[in-house]
Amino acid sequence: MTLTSIKTSGDKIEIINQLLLPHTTEFIEIDTIEQAYDAIKSMRIRGAPAIASLAALTIASHLSRALHSQTPPDWLSSPELLSAYVTPKLNYLYTARPTAVNLGAAMRRLKNRLRTAREEGKDARAIAQDLVDEGREIDAEDVARNKTMSKWGGDWLVDQVKAKGKDPEGLNVMTVCNTGSLATSGYGTALGLITYLHETKKLSRAFFTQSTPYHQGSRLTALELLTLNIPATMLCDSMVGSLFQHHDIHAVVVGADRIARNGDTANKVGTYNAAVLAARHNIPFIVVAPISTVDLDIADGSAIPIEQRPPIEARLVRGAVYPFTLNGQGVKEQATVMVTPENLESVYNPSFDVTPAELISAIVTEKGVAVKADGENAFDLSSVV
Ligand code: MRU
Repeated sequence: MTLTSIKTSGDKIEIINQLLLPHTTEFIEIDTIEQAYDAIKSMRIRGAPAIASLAALTIASHLSRALHSQTPPDWLSSPELLSAYVTPKLNYLYTARPTAVNLGAAMRRLKNRLRTAREEGKDARAIAQDLVDEGREIDAEDVARNKTMSKWGGDWLVDQVKAKGKDPEGLNVMTVCNTGSLATSGYGTALGLITYLHETKKLSRAFFTQSTPYHQGSRLTALELLTLNIPATMLCDSMVGSLFQHHDIHAVVVGADRIARNGDTANKVGTYNAAVLAARHNIPFIVVAPISTVDLDIADGSAIPIEQRPPIEARLVRGAVYPFTLNGQGVKEQATVMVTPENLESVYNPSFDVTPAELISAIVTEKGVAVKADGENAFDLSSVV
């Protein structure tokens, strides 16, 4: 079985409902722009590249359906009307979640294609077709670039381990959150690197944090690693220091939602804690993300908008009712349990934190690996964007 966040067939788009994983596999059809926005905001789909893919595919399907309709809408009658119709939809989708810049990059890319096609003097139908192609391309190109960056990063780590005179065949690598097939259009970024090490027989074991409160680790990364038959161990978020004290961990590998020009990186909350502890234990800390995650407009991490999730999400745990019986159809009986007193109101619940570039050993994109110059605390990312 291969896990996938998005399934398409012609203009039909379905996403796996990640709120119900790993116990129930439910695909939801996304027919409208509003449904795509809701799915992203409610985190039925999540992960920076996956939400960008869904937004781009939804725009593509919406325009494709209009192009093939018996009664084409008025807005397909002129480039001006088409532009006035599509642009607010791109802006709207970008507001679904604020931290992951891939979503913004995808919407900006569609706007650029719209502008170029207009400058080329194309008619509205030809411009709409260009947008359909571009939207589908944004999704389609993700898997290949994930494989490329995973190899860059994996080979870099193996070289680092060799340089320290250690055995590069038995690597223990820790990750945070979920950055695999469910967070992308396939293969993954940080989890892609771990998969690459496993495929090339360099990995001994993957360690992953639960990543509360949404449990991207315990629910999604656990499922992906089990599906891929990769030896793996889960730990609670509070156990990272203990893990580093008692196990030989060769690297921490994480994804990113936004990387500032100097390399400061926003990723799932808890990443910063792991980076501080990795520095203390002299463990390489590697960020793996596509170029579309790098935001050159932002000088450093202080300007990255950090999404605050509703307090209720940190007070609840969702899961299958235990003891349960698993069957081919998945577990239907799920429950949401409140773990705090009912009248607890004040909860600090940022979805992301920012790891300063100073604590990051390498930033890997599909173009290669960037490291800091000796004595520098910031990256020059020009070779990897
Ligand atoms: O809130 P989420 O689950 O969307 O956060 C996801 C992460 O922080 C990932 O590490 C990041 O988006 C990279 S996914 C390849």
